[in-house]
Amino acid sequence: MTLRVATAADAPAVAALERVTFGVDAWSEGSVLEELTAPGRRAVVAVEADELVGYAVTASSGDVVDLQRIAVRSDQRRRGLARALLDALTTEAAGGGGGGGRMLLEVSAANDAALAFYTAEGFEEIGRRRRYYRDGSDAVVMQRRCRLVTGEGRG
Ligand SMILES: CC(C)(COP(=O)(O)OP(=O)(O)OC[C@H]1O[C@@H](n2cnc3c(N)ncnc32)[C@H](O)[C@@H]1OP(=O)(O)O)[C@@H](O)C(=O)NCCC(=O)NCCS
Repeated sequence: MTLRVATAADAPAVAALERVTFGVDAWSEGSVLEELTAPGRRAVVAVEADELVGYAVTASSGDVVDLQRIAVRSDQRRRGLARALLDALTTEAAGGGGGGGRMLLEVSAANDAALAFYTAEGFEEIGRRRRYYRDGSDAVVMQRRCRLVTGEGRG
């Protein structure tokens, strides 16, 4: 498995994984392209046997980094891929000077896997938005202080 920074050329494969993962809530290919290339965005992809099997995207503004998306193909889950993607983006954020502060995200209260993942990765609930999603579920707002990664050491 290889992790690398996403490029515009990854947009079709990311959009395909979006569709199987998020269905009607998937980003269109145009939205994916925007997310991969807009100012302040950072995106990494995981590639296995020449196939894109995961991706994650953040948007930075000042010292706040929003985790926009993270997804791993269903047959590749529970192998540490999402953790590796998140670590890579945290390194990027710290190394790029684009946010040594906090990472924020919103996740559906009905998404048990994602809630378990974020909790395992040190995110804490800081609020809720009632009936935020199309299916009527609440959004859980979670935050983590960015782990600053400099060179070989992690603080
Ligand atoms: C959430 C998601 C990205 C996790 O990806 P993953 O590659 O399976 O996660 P990892 O293997 O890195 O998991 C790291 C840790 O998180 C926790 N975790 C992850 N998935 C979990 C699950 N389904 N149930 C319980 N704990 C889970 C575990 O502690 C895990 O460590 P362990 O496997 O050693 O026990 C994946 O389930 C996914 O793509 N879901 C659909 C998309 C989505 O909902 N994204 C979030 C909203 S944008």
